[in-house]
Amino acid sequence: MKENNKKGNAKAAPEAKTEVSAEKKEDQPKNNSREKIAGTKSEALIVVSDLCKNFGDHKVLRGINTEIDKGEVVAIIGPSGCGKSTFLRSLNLLEVPDRGTIRFEGTDITDKSVDINKMREKMGMVFQQFNLFPNLTIKKNIMLAPTKLGKMTKEEASAKADELLKRIGLSDKANAYPDSLSGGQKQRVAIIRALAMNPDVMLFDEPTSALDPEMVGEVLSLMKNLADSGMTMVIVTHEMGFAREVADRVLFINDGVIAEENTPEEFFANPVNPRLKDFLSKVL
Ligand SMILES: Nc1ncnc2c1ncn2[C@@H]1O[C@H](COP(=O)(O)OP(=O)(O)O)[C@@H](O)[C@H]1O
Ligand SMILES: [Mg+2]
Repeated sequence: MKENNKKGNAKAAPEAKTEVSAEKKEDQPKNNSREKIAGTKSEALIVVSDLCKNFGDHKVLRGINTEIDKGEVVAIIGPSGCGKSTFLRSLNLLEVPDRGTIRFEGTDITDKSVDINKMREKMGMVFQQFNLFPNLTIKKNIMLAPTKLGKMTKEEASAKADELLKRIGLSDKANAYPDSLSGGQKQRVAIIRALAMNPDVMLFDEPTSALDPEMVGEVLSLMKNLADSGMTMVIVTHEMGFAREVADRVLFINDGVIAEENTPEEFFANPVNPRLKDFLSKVL
């Protein structure tokens, strides 16, 4: 999908190699839309079918269907209140759908017999408000989930936290408390805290919306780095430039459905849906 462009981008703007050391995304097997159209069995990580969610009488999601492949970066855009957060939160069942299924790595997580907490361990989530524990040091924030959930020993979690902090250049903040960090630093810590669990997908809900403008760049740069490392990412964002550059696919949610989806190039250059055209004319 975006492979050629990604390579082009990488050449045009050599990326910082300091943050994420995993193998390059370009080297990873990937599905393309042609295979999908031809009906080739794709390596979907998440399959959403007929997802519906109401709040009282308000039908927020009215039948969302999509597949997210391993290694794919999907950006979700749309006007405020259109259901972007509801959709994202449904992916790990923070919102329980009224209808439809969500298969994650082959398991229907809406099935009552599924241990959703086990599933959530593989789905990192980053919110607009960083949600760091103010009474714990940065390092303890990062170590908390892996140790509490028995994923790692204290020593392993400590080594992992050190490695992740080094990756984002914040080793010197290990023993500091969240309050002493800038917004951008807090959000980067929130991201690596989620990474400490070695998730298979990262879900981002407007991760830069609460930041002062000068701090947006450092967070987007970490996310781009993560995308380049091959992480599967679903990102609700208002950062159109970022979506265009980093996403493989952009989705527009309107009236409770995916009203349009395309490669970023096509999506921004040739929008079809009138509501999308209108939306883009206001935000671009
Ligand atoms: N817990 C809730 N209870 C009632 N209404 C909700 C709840 N969460 C979201 N909504 C409503 O659902 C709609 C979609 O919300 P949301 O998914 O947060 O939109 P977006 O993230 O696109 O701005 C909005 O009208 C919002 O007010
Ligand atoms: Mg939202």
